[in-house]
This record gives sequence, structure tokens and C-alpha cells, in this order.
Amino acid sequence: MSYQAVEEKIDLTKAEEILDQYREIRGPLIPVLQKIQDAYGYLPRPVVELIAEHLGVTPHQVFGVITFYAQFHLEPRGKHILRVCCGTACHVKGAKQITDKVEEILEVHPSETTKDRLFTYEQVACIGACSMAPAMMIDDHTFGELDSGKVEKSINKYRMKDNDREQRAESEEKE
Ligand code: FES
Repeated sequence: MSYQAVEEKIDLTKAEEILDQYREIRGPLIPVLQKIQDAYGYLPRPVVELIAEHLGVTPHQVFGVITFYAQFHLEPRGKHILRVCCGTACHVKGAKQITDKVEEILEVHPSETTKDRLFTYEQVACIGACSMAPAMMIDDHTFGELDSGKVEKSINKYRMKDNDREQRAESEEKE
């Protein structure tokens, strides 16, 4: 896990409020990280430094914990998480074709987020849909018996939904 060149101004207020709740409790690193990640969507570097200062440990120690657990993220995540299954059944049924198509459409590599932050793309082991292999998930929705066309359709559906939502929000603002 590494930082991309994410140059954002981070408002530390939310992190400070959460850290205040844990001031008197010893050893709260994991719940603190969980709460702060819930608030920001990921763990920005200035926030990690603030956590270390509050808990009296080094930033290096906090980064060590963050990188140990898959649940923590050092970079912003996409609005949707797209997981392509690379388990045995899917591999046999052509998962490579699916990952190639996803990477071509989204222009990302595994574990990366699209520039518009709509999708974070991950390759995962079995998602429990072997009878529909090859399969992928977008958020909680499973797509099975995939081919290149189905992959494209599924991704476009999410892109269109998001565009519609944005347009609706814009027109509501104008009213
Ligand atoms: S191996 Fe892909 S869903 Fe089980």
C-alpha cells in the first residue's frame, strides 16, 4: 500500500473529535482507526500523524498496523468497489479475460481507484458464486457468467446511475 500523489487539504476536526473520545482509554488504536476511516473514507497521512501524537506512539507504528490489516486504506476509495474473482473456478472459466476487460475500461490496475473516484478495483479469491463463474461483484451485487460485453454493460450501468444522480442533484440546486 502506498500513497499516490494525493495533495488534499485535510480537515482534522473530525479526527480530533474522535481522538478526544479515546483520551483516557489505553490501547485503542484499532477502534480509533476504524472510526476515523469511517469518517474520512480512508486514513489520510496528516490524520495518521495526529493519531500517533494523541496516542503517544510513532507514526511508523501506526502505519505498521494500518498496512497489516486489509480493512484499512491509506488512499481514497472509489464510490463503488468492483471485485473480480480470481478463484479457481473463475480462473478456469476465464477470469483473465474479465480482469483484462475491467482494467481496459477503468484504466486502472488492481487495488487502484479510477481518476473520477467512481470505482476501486480489486482482484479477490472466491466470492461464493462459483456456479456462475466467471464472476465479479460491484458493491454487494454479484454479476455471473461474465464475458467482455457483460462486464462493459455492468460498469456502464453504474456510471449512468451516477451521472443521473449528479444531474438530478445539479437541477435541484438550480431550482
Ligand atoms: S471461484 Fe470465483 S466465485 Fe468461486
